[in-house]
Amino acid sequence: MAEFPIVRMRRLRRTPTLRRMVRRTQLGIDDLVAPLFVKEGIADPEPIGAMPGQVQHTVESLRKEAGEMVALGIPAVILFGIPSAKDAAGSGADAADGIVQRALRALRVDLGDDLVLMADLCLCEYTDHGHCGVVSGGRVDNDATLERYASAARAQAEAGADVVAPSGMMDGQVAAIRGALDGAGFVDTAVLAYAAKYASAFYGPFREAAECAPKFGNRAAYQMDAGNAAEAVREAELDVAEGADAVMVKPGLPYLDIVRALREAVEVPVAAYNVSGEYSMIKAAAAAGWLDERAAMFESLTAIKRAGADFILTYFAKDAAAALRES
Ligand code: PBG
Repeated sequence: MAEFPIVRMRRLRRTPTLRRMVRRTQLGIDDLVAPLFVKEGIADPEPIGAMPGQVQHTVESLRKEAGEMVALGIPAVILFGIPSAKDAAGSGADAADGIVQRALRALRVDLGDDLVLMADLCLCEYTDHGHCGVVSGGRVDNDATLERYASAARAQAEAGADVVAPSGMMDGQVAAIRGALDGAGFVDTAVLAYAAKYASAFYGPFREAAECAPKFGNRAAYQMDAGNAAEAVREAELDVAEGADAVMVKPGLPYLDIVRALREAVEVPVAAYNVSGEYSMIKAAAAAGWLDERAAMFESLTAIKRAGADFILTYFAKDAAAALRES
């Protein structure tokens, strides 16, 4: 094998055009999914303090925002709902007139099939205790929760979701949801499984955005432990066997090894979630003048794609799409 001085790695880095020619990973607008929050019972959108630039939308402001996303060429959004009342069962999650269901119907009327409508499927925004499932005896009851997820999946599909995305990390959730959808005739509603979702401190800002911090304990008994990688592959394989159409890794940047492992292990599309903490860290550092926001954003998203993600859920979707259109 040739070595220096015959080999000079810098030759293909000399000009921007040369670099563009040999660049393997190209981030595109089609890779982006925008997470959006919609809140019941507010008259105007409310800024989310911990996530500069993001808001809790009204249905009206959501419609405007989603229209702008389509104009930018963004292919998909994922909706999170904040109900005006919470209870132990998380009733808002599967109510026919629940906030996400109302938002889905409005966006479908406005945008037809020009925007893929994804719905996060979990109970934590809707329960008074803030856990992702039904609590009994101080712990989250896996199997009782599956019935609630099945019902929420039917409600979201009925309201027009193209994709439901279970994020609660209950065992058997994909099979329960697939069965419920098929049983109700929603055979074409896809399931994007949050397959490898870690118990992460990087969800901190999201819990303000979705008003879903657990009132007691934490999520470590159902979300994955940061020290494990092979377990993520197992989670993904189980979800695919249960009928998941695509799988997700979450968070993104601290778990690029997991993105790569899933990319190699399964044949279905792999998504990665560039989560709230990843977003807010860049925003805060940029606001302090400590790093270049746009460059850090593109480097993050490119790294996630390079690791093997087919699409990326990111709060930077709009900024990235606008910048990609300019370039
Ligand atoms: C709900 C859910 C969470 C996120 C997505 N869905 C929070 C959690 O599990 O605590 C986090 C998203 C983000 O931080 O951007 N189960």
